[in-house]
Amino acid sequence: MPINIGEMAYAEFKKALKRAEDALRKGQTGDAAAAYRQCAELYRQYASSANDPAVRRQRMERVQFYQEKAHALDNNIPYEPAPSERRGPKASRSSEESTTDDYESEVLNLLQQTSVRWADIGGLEDTKAAIKSAYGLALARKPDGIEISSWHNVLLYGPPGTGKTLLAAATAGSLDANFFNVKVSNLLSKYFGESSKLITALYAAARKMSPSVIFLDEFESLTPPRGSGESGAERRIVSTILAELDGLATKEDENFVLTMGATNVPWLLDTAILSRFQRRIYVPLPDPAARKAILKIHLTKRGHKSALGMDELVRRTDGYAGREIEQLCQTAVASMTQRANPDLLTVVDQGQEAVRNYHIRIEPLSEEDFRTAFDQVQPIADAVMLRKYSDWAQKAEG
Ligand SMILES: Nc1ncnc2c1ncn2[C@@H]1O[C@H](COP(=O)(O)OP(=O)(O)OP(=O)(O)O)[C@@H](O)[C@H]1O
Ligand SMILES: [Mg+2]
Repeated sequence: MPINIGEMAYAEFKKALKRAEDALRKGQTGDAAAAYRQCAELYRQYASSANDPAVRRQRMERVQFYQEKAHALDNNIPYEPAPSERRGPKASRSSEESTTDDYESEVLNLLQQTSVRWADIGGLEDTKAAIKSAYGLALARKPDGIEISSWHNVLLYGPPGTGKTLLAAATAGSLDANFFNVKVSNLLSKYFGESSKLITALYAAARKMSPSVIFLDEFESLTPPRGSGESGAERRIVSTILAELDGLATKEDENFVLTMGATNVPWLLDTAILSRFQRRIYVPLPDPAARKAILKIHLTKRGHKSALGMDELVRRTDGYAGREIEQLCQTAVASMTQRANPDLLTVVDQGQEAVRNYHIRIEPLSEEDFRTAFDQVQPIADAVMLRKYSDWAQKAEG
């Protein structure tokens, strides 16, 4: 497993912070100052591990805060919190406040850079249009005295590999929104009893950094398996998420925080949760037009030509999800590159320099390339599975 410098620094930082707070409580200001100085250094390492410049900047503010605190303690001067550290009427930081701060850092770890755009999605045109419209209605100016409420949460459900995650990433990417990517099962296992605090901090950060997209993947993990009983912690996190979906906590108009839940097994969600989603959108296997668009994205736009016509490929990929079409294209391309560059392996044996000077040869994808690909990549959704989705959709919407 790769060692993550940022995570290591953060773990050490938390220990140093505890030492600092303990020392401060005991009145050992010299020790406290030294520990805060360590906090600053460790937080600096943690800050520089962030990919996103905005996140880095935000974290660097806290570095300064710990330095100032150490300096104040050393010189016995009352310490003045940095503007970013002032929260509410309380100026001094109790250890409870620092826990909220810890969640804020955890939340910022969920922020993900995305370069995906609408154009990277084949099909799903209605869904893209619906999301754009919700965004436009939320942010555009309305005539005085006119209120138009647009929806701010959506559940995407459907078979694996049909573009649910892609859609969430493209929404954030195209709207230039912050993308918080959360796997609900991870959230529950990693933070268990504290998950609901993390959710609260997550929504607070998303509002502050609006526009934001919060993607809650594997949403069904919120519903515990039948018969397993539900713990207090689980009930708390469900009710926190439900309150956020209801928008009880959001009243400001200019904020755009879109929650996108996703699941392959919508029938596991109970009605209390389901009813909170203003939109439930079935993301189906792609129809012929969508398959054509997906094939273009993964073949034509990548510069490949094919001996098989587009119409034939569209016909033969009936039943394939977007992910499988992508795999199919990759396998065909791999077969072509192998065929057209039989000497590549020998060149690799000659060392890096030789490889860098080698020019890859490209040919149109042949029937044989596709035969290999169709043999290797088979669709996983079958009629029984698809039937389950349509039955459920009918029951849920009907
Ligand atoms: N509509 C599409 N257009 C273009 N590419 C697609 C499409 N659907 C899927 N893909 C390709 O398949 C990959 C996987 O799709 P994605 O992760 O969005 O599926 P998913 O619906 O989230 O699946 P799961 O339910 O398993 O999480 C994408 O990264 C993309 O390369
Ligand atoms: Mg997904």
